[in-house]
Amino acid sequence: MNERIRDRICLALDGFDSTEAALERVRELKSHVGMFKVGLELYSAFGPGIVQMLHDEGVKVFLDLKLHDIPKTVENTSRVLSRLKVALFNVHASGGTEMMRAALEGCGGQSKVIGVTVLTSWAETSFRGELGVSQPLDTYVLGLAKLAEQAGLQGVVCSAQELELLKPNLPQDFVFITPGISGSSTRAGADQKRVFTPAKAVMNGATHLVIGRAINGLPGARQRIEELELIHGDLSRVL
Ligand code: C5P
Repeated sequence: MNERIRDRICLALDGFDSTEAALERVRELKSHVGMFKVGLELYSAFGPGIVQMLHDEGVKVFLDLKLHDIPKTVENTSRVLSRLKVALFNVHASGGTEMMRAALEGCGGQSKVIGVTVLTSWAETSFRGELGVSQPLDTYVLGLAKLAEQAGLQGVVCSAQELELLKPNLPQDFVFITPGISGSSTRAGADQKRVFTPAKAVMNGATHLVIGRAINGLPGARQRIEELELIHGDLSRVL
């Protein structure tokens, strides 16, 4: 197994109704997946204990809670989350510089703090129409990513589509996490509007790919491993 490729793949642990089912999936796929994402669903169901259980499996955790609140609340919450020592957790960049700095202050360097730009489930027309944004979506995302960098965050979550514009304008070591990834033969969820293949996302500069339903939606372990092997094959062309 190519570890360099494995480290780029983050599996979203969504849709599990027990910790055992989630841990089973981790054991099944950790040879092909470098990091596992605990989102709002899993965290709300099972609490911080699930993070410790994942760490006990020897895997890295991305805690995707997308914090967005007044700076003091975010600082205090980040301080609590810092005890979990996850590899990454995130806050909404639209919470502003003061809120992002507060997250860093609370975290105290225990995890990387990443800024969420614009969710990949937004399509450009509805995003601009519903929120009254006059800028093109990618310019808006760049603005948020620059804000995250200025606040001291170590990376952003964005769509692979925006990377062409973001990469040259942000530091070399910035982390770019891209959801909205379809598998080599499977698709991301139908609600994802800006969807890319793994190789295309990495060619555009993604450092980590978040993949959920394209793997978890498959009926059995054999299909999931086969799909991940196709993804590894796809990535080996560009890594
Ligand atoms: O199933 P799918 O591959 O679409 O899953 C994407 C995952 O990435 C979900 O867990 C979702 O919460 C998360 N995510 C996202 N867009 C972001 C940040 C996280 O879709 N901007």
